[in-house]
Amino acid sequence: MRASRPYEASAAEVLGRCRDLVRPALVEAVGRLHPWTGEMAAYALGWADTDGNPDPDGSEGKGVRQTLAVLGAEAVGADGAVAVPGAVAAELVHTFSLLHDDIMDADALRRQRPAAWKAYGTGPAVLAGDALHAQAVTSLAETPGPHAATAVRHLCLTLNALVSGQAEDLRFEDRPWRGPGAVEPAQYRAMAENKTGALLGCALALGAILGGAPDRTVATLDRAGRRLGLAFQAVDDILGIWGDPRVTGKPVHADLRQRKKTYPVLVALAGGGRAAHELAVLLDSAERIEGETAEHAAALVEAAGGRTETRKEARRHLDAAHRTLREAPLTHPAAHRLDVLFTHLLDRTW
Ligand code: IPE
Ligand code: MG
Ligand code: MG
Repeated sequence: MRASRPYEASAAEVLGRCRDLVRPALVEAVGRLHPWTGEMAAYALGWADTDGNPDPDGSEGKGVRQTLAVLGAEAVGADGAVAVPGAVAAELVHTFSLLHDDIMDADALRRQRPAAWKAYGTGPAVLAGDALHAQAVTSLAETPGPHAATAVRHLCLTLNALVSGQAEDLRFEDRPWRGPGAVEPAQYRAMAENKTGALLGCALALGAILGGAPDRTVATLDRAGRRLGLAFQAVDDILGIWGDPRVTGKPVHADLRQRKKTYPVLVALAGGGRAAHELAVLLDSAERIEGETAEHAAALVEAAGGRTETRKEARRHLDAAHRTLREAPLTHPAAHRLDVLFTHLLDRTW
């Protein structure tokens, strides 16, 4: 069914082309790690199993960030190859953030396989994340040409934003579900823009920086990527509740079980009504949200409008992301490829 949509095929083509372009440099970067952290990094990247052998079950992830970096350079009229160090940095940061995020979220499964902390232990997985983080900055700092310093500065600001977003996300867990102190939509958006949007914006911006674009264009692409990130996180929150675990590769209802303050739940509670009230009572109770209880909670979120509203939220941010792209003087074919990729990400099921 998906293949019948023309943009689906071309988004896959764009992701595949950028993956091929970036892969040798990514392999080289991981090859520079200490052998043990390198082995864990290869596992986290889906390249190898825990014995270091090629993993037929390993899923590599979508490669969205490396693609944004390459398209960012192409959209400002440069050769996509100049963006490769930025693409490598963005993918390494993404992988590091997921390694640590699964520990923070106590998620035992990632991309159909045990999360790295389950496979190797928490200490080693923290270290592998640190190694990837350090190598991301190193790879970018070694970019030949005049733009390395600007690029590294942008990446460092992004790392700070990502940490802030994760901090807010974790702090939300202790906030009440309703009444004074409840998480407001604007606060949720600020958190999501930091934890997810900042890196997507950064990937695009790094491509533009390395492609020699003026500051204004870099800033516009960064904003477009941040809005894309908000749409992406809204879809992630939907998939976290209603996604098919065989497709998402993550455990079903994990966010509900963890009582995460995700957008669908917050917006459902804010809507009021009978389902919202029942949901609030369940969330406030000591009951474990698993199995049938989790199914019921998901149904309540849906009945209270949480799913529909989150879909609308994603759509709003995606439209804004497309509009923001229009504000920059971009070359046509690459700008079109960005539009295609953006749209594809809203329709994803994994
Ligand atoms: C992850 O956010 C964001 C970062 C890793 C910085 P989530 O916790 O919502 O993402 P998933 O659902 O585990 O991928
Ligand atoms: Mg998580
Ligand atoms: Mg998280």
